[in-house]
Amino acid sequence: MAERGSGTRDTLSIRDNRTGRDYEVEVLEGDVVRAMDLRQIKVEDDDFGMMAYDPAFTNTASTRSSVTEIDGSKGILRYRGYPIEELAEKSDFLEVAHLLLKGELPTADELEGFVHEVTYHTYVHQNIAKLLTGFRYDAHAMGIMISSVAALSTFYPEAKRIDDAQTRWEQMVRIVAKMPTLAAFAYRHHRGLPLVYPENHFSYTGNFLNMLFRIGVKEFEPDPVLERALDVLFILHADHEQNCSTTAMRVIGSSQADPFSALAGAMAALYGPLHGGANEAVLRMLTEIGDTENIPGFIESVKRGERRLMGFGHRVYKAYDPRANIIKKTAHDVFEVTGKNPLLDIALELEEIALKDDYFVSRNLYPNVDFYSGLIYQAMGFPVEMFPVLFAIPRSVGWLSQWEEMLLDKEQRIARPRQVYSGAGERQYVPVDRRG
Ligand code: SDX
Repeated sequence: MAERGSGTRDTLSIRDNRTGRDYEVEVLEGDVVRAMDLRQIKVEDDDFGMMAYDPAFTNTASTRSSVTEIDGSKGILRYRGYPIEELAEKSDFLEVAHLLLKGELPTADELEGFVHEVTYHTYVHQNIAKLLTGFRYDAHAMGIMISSVAALSTFYPEAKRIDDAQTRWEQMVRIVAKMPTLAAFAYRHHRGLPLVYPENHFSYTGNFLNMLFRIGVKEFEPDPVLERALDVLFILHADHEQNCSTTAMRVIGSSQADPFSALAGAMAALYGPLHGGANEAVLRMLTEIGDTENIPGFIESVKRGERRLMGFGHRVYKAYDPRANIIKKTAHDVFEVTGKNPLLDIALELEEIALKDDYFVSRNLYPNVDFYSGLIYQAMGFPVEMFPVLFAIPRSVGWLSQWEEMLLDKEQRIARPRQVYSGAGERQYVPVDRRG
């Protein structure tokens, strides 16, 4: 392993062998070079200059950020410097939301004030409830959520004032407060049940469970184990640095769109089965496997490239996703209350077999956050269509934290990547009767 020489300069020396010219490019903190520093490398003086080509941004830092730190090789995840394991054990979701949004754990007064603000913004305009009637009974809850969040932008036109700190904060509180209400409304519509409205005496997750599962009883008492389990799951899903949906939030927000519209776009990105839709895909996969005796055949189909082992693999983690470990422990707490999810045995056996198989080991494929979370959600009574919604609720805190960081970052401006054109050269229009 090369050692860093003493007294060396933090630069890269680049020799362009096409011209024999040499260039010095500064190496910045974080072991990065500015892509713009490549533009000086040209063959002809009137050339555009060199770009970095990086489809899917696999090796591109799009921003500096102080929100979340991940070390994929060590399985480390920290929110504002605090290890996820400690936050999951000692904190709760609204305290973590304050940490992510404001950058610091709140004092007791700050936490009380934040919880009060969120508690008193959980209602949505009654027209949102009417909006639901436009969806088929079997409409996917995530489709309803994306539409509802986008619709909220029409109820708060002041949200366009993204340059005003107080206005930004008011919209962020509204979103944190209203996401569970929108999600519960989507679920009740899906089940053909009357809507249950927020009640202020519940905790954040207790209120959510009440709006979801209350059926006619005068008093609904959420099971404290399930209430806490959901709170832990929300903590684990709150942010994850520059993932696909956060990038969508930042890119949309960079045009100075309002946060509700940007959030709808981020939710749309999360919906995909390779991202937040993976928890739903895992449950469908485990259900399809159906029995542990079918696992070897399934694994072979994955190794033949016919399908993916959903809930496995990660762009950043090349070790065990630390969240998956915590979720696995939380699952046992939940199953004590709900009874064990029969699919758990298939998931555990699938993990054990995969982690011994060179196909997965050689590709650093380990369980990620989505592999076990769906088992918990299903055991708690959620239909699979709600799983990505349960991801989106807490992740709205991360999206908002990253969105505001982008707006306040002096280095940021509207996102507009370049391309390498590989299409047809200039050609003339041909009238339709002379084509083909
Ligand atoms: C989330 O980015 C984030 O932080 C996301 C997230 C967050 O909190 O925001 O952590 C949440 O989205 C977790 C990921 C959930 N998705 C899944 O579980 C879907 C299954 N996993 C994958 O499709 C895949 O692993 C990704 C999308 C997660 C990562 O894809 P990459 O980094 O682009 O990896 P790749 O597709 O280039 O795969 C590398 C190799 C390939 O094999 P070869 O072409 O080299 O032969 O690994 C194989 C892939 O075929 N591979 C898999 C696999 N994932 C990758 N093979 C089988 N099953 C899988 N799950």
